[in-house]
Amino acid sequence: MDRELVDYIHARLKTVINPKRYTHTLGVVDAAIYLAEKYGEDPLHAQIAALLHDYAKDFTEKELKDYIEKYKIEVDKELFEAYQLLHGKVAAHIAKKEFNINNKNILNAIENHTTGRSNMSRLEKIIYLADFIEVGRNYPGVDELRLLVEEDLDKGLLKALNNTIIYVLSIEGLLHPNTVYARNEILKIVKD
Ligand SMILES: [Fe+2]
Ligand SMILES: [Fe+2]
Repeated sequence: MDRELVDYIHARLKTVINPKRYTHTLGVVDAAIYLAEKYGEDPLHAQIAALLHDYAKDFTEKELKDYIEKYKIEVDKELFEAYQLLHGKVAAHIAKKEFNINNKNILNAIENHTTGRSNMSRLEKIIYLADFIEVGRNYPGVDELRLLVEEDLDKGLLKALNNTIIYVLSIEGLLHPNTVYARNEILKIVKD
C-alpha cells in the first residue's frame, strides 16, 4: 500500500513539475529520510512530505491564486502578495484531496516549508531543512549548514532561517511574519 502510494505520487509528480525540480525533489526525499532516521522521525512520513513539498511549484501565479480561490483556502495577506510562497499551501491541499493524505503532521510539513512557523514539529523542521541541504544544492554556506544540521536539528534550523531572512532582505523581498516567529523562537531554544 505504501509502496503503491509512493509510486503513484512519483508518476503524477513527473507530469506537473519540470525535470530539474523532479531531481531536486528526489534529493529532498533522500535528505528527509536520512534526517528522519537520524532524529527519530517516521521515514515514510518524511518521504511523502518531501515528495509532495514542491508539487505546485511550477504553477503560475494565476494557477496558484485560482486554486486558492476555487477551494476557498485561507491565506494571509503576506502569503498572497508573495505568491511564490503559496505553493506549499496548494501542495498540502492537493496532498489531501488527490492523494488522500490525512496525516496533519505531513500536511503541515508540506504547507509550511516555504515560510516555517512558530512551534514547528520535528517533521516540519526536517522538510524545511532537507529542502536547503539536499545533495543538488550549491550556494555559499550550504556546507556549513549541512554540518550544523548534522550536529543539531535546531541549530541547523536557526541557521537556515537566518539565511532565508538575510536573503529576502538582500533582494528587498517581502518577509513573511511566520519566518520571523520561527526564527526568534528557535533562537531562544538554541541559545538557552
Ligand atoms: Fe518549495
Ligand atoms: Fe523544494
